Amino acid sequence: MTSLPTQRFAWRTPKGKLPLPPGRFGLPIVGESISYLRDPARFMNQRQKQYGTIFKTHLFGRPTIVLIGADATRFLFTNESQRFEMTNTPSFEVLLGANSIGVKTGTAHQILRKQLFQAFEPRALAEYGTTIEDMTRRYLHKWERMGTLTWYCELKKYTLDIACKLFVNVETASDENLEKVYQTWSDGLLSIPIRFPGSKFDRAVRAREQLLALIDEMINQRQQHRNSNQDVLKILLQAQDEEGNRLSLEEVKDNVLGMLVAGHETLTSALTSLCLLLAQHPEVLQAARAEQEQLGLTQPLTQESLKQMTYLEQVLKEVLRMAPPVVRSGSRKVLESCEFGGYLIPQSWDVFYQIQETHQDQNVYAQAQRFDPERFAPDRAENKQKVFSYIPFGGGIRECLGKEFARLEMKVFAALLIREYHWELLPGQNLERVVLPFSRPHDGLKVKFWRRESGRV
Ligand code: HEM
Repeated sequence: MTSLPTQRFAWRTPKGKLPLPPGRFGLPIVGESISYLRDPARFMNQRQKQYGTIFKTHLFGRPTIVLIGADATRFLFTNESQRFEMTNTPSFEVLLGANSIGVKTGTAHQILRKQLFQAFEPRALAEYGTTIEDMTRRYLHKWERMGTLTWYCELKKYTLDIACKLFVNVETASDENLEKVYQTWSDGLLSIPIRFPGSKFDRAVRAREQLLALIDEMINQRQQHRNSNQDVLKILLQAQDEEGNRLSLEEVKDNVLGMLVAGHETLTSALTSLCLLLAQHPEVLQAARAEQEQLGLTQPLTQESLKQMTYLEQVLKEVLRMAPPVVRSGSRKVLESCEFGGYLIPQSWDVFYQIQETHQDQNVYAQAQRFDPERFAPDRAENKQKVFSYIPFGGGIRECLGKEFARLEMKVFAALLIREYHWELLPGQNLERVVLPFSRPHDGLKVKFWRRESGRV
């Protein structure tokens, strides 16, 4: 990968006439959006080969500068808020809602973030572990009974079930009706924001109203039964900032809804990639199993026992490096013209940081295309060579709020799965990676699944 000279990330007001980064804008109005949406990975690869790690394009109606690599992400993350501001496509803004953390900027974002974080503090996380473990066991038994399954669809139900139980204490997420409403809403996130009866966007807006009505009902129940179970909704209804201000009901509703999407689509993608990569690398699966057997931990899992699974931790990190779930994210508006790498970054353009391509930097990751959990072993720790070279959860003031929750769910799932079960890829399926809206294998990963006899597959 052609990279820019290091140490060129400091904020600089452009002096004299600087060139724009290389690149092209494509067609009038649509720019290069169609080629991007057709195959985002190819789009980025081709242009990176042609122009390097910083280039201009035109996406979703906006002139955009694409930034790849640790230096570029450091430049962005360390200047966020003063110099860059979150930007979303119009459909995202409407479907997430005006009070969602995803659309807030500046001080309003920081205050809201602190309040929402109360639902993901270590104390709160410690309470979620048991539910995740119970739900995981229930699903593993279900898949054992099924014998063959398409993992992406099943993992979507599993992660939605966990999110609904822990976020709003609803037990019926795999209820097909709710799943359909949710799916209609989620499909609208990448739609053209034009409302006419029956349009994708119109259906998504209606689905949003249905979901908000459901959350409303949950809030009423909480208000009537003060000693209800601890869940994210309850924590948010009680959360206060330093001055004792509480979140408004609208803020609670929009953010609970946002977390349902942020918190389950990403995890579905990560867990599907885990299952695929382990099936393709039996030596890694074997080593992860050996660690479980050597630890000989008794159930149920605890925070301490999870911490001891150091090899499994490396495997999970490598899965998120190789197949980061979030691809279409990370757009920011430039608030003030600046310079990066000798190029002008003009005011009011968008910048768009790239997670997948940053994780493929050969200067940081040896044989970057190889699945190699050992690269995260303490004696190699390749990701520590450069800050922001490992960014599956983004970085800076907008780093993923659910990062520790996601890591917990991934680890519990992986530990129980590899100890007791085995799976094989079914022949004749397309495993090619599709990356929008979230990364997954083309045919959803079809497998044969069974319980292991002790010590055997
Ligand atoms: C493997 C799972 C996950 C991945 C890979 C992931 C990835 C990301 C990324 C890359 C961002 C930053 C986007 C940007 O810079 O524009 C982000 C933000 C966010 N994530 Fe996650 N996420 C995951 C799970 C979760 C979960 C479980 C939750 C909540 C329950 C969550 C809630 C959020 C929120 C609220 C933000 C916005 C933070 C802000 O703007 O301050 N994520 N996530």
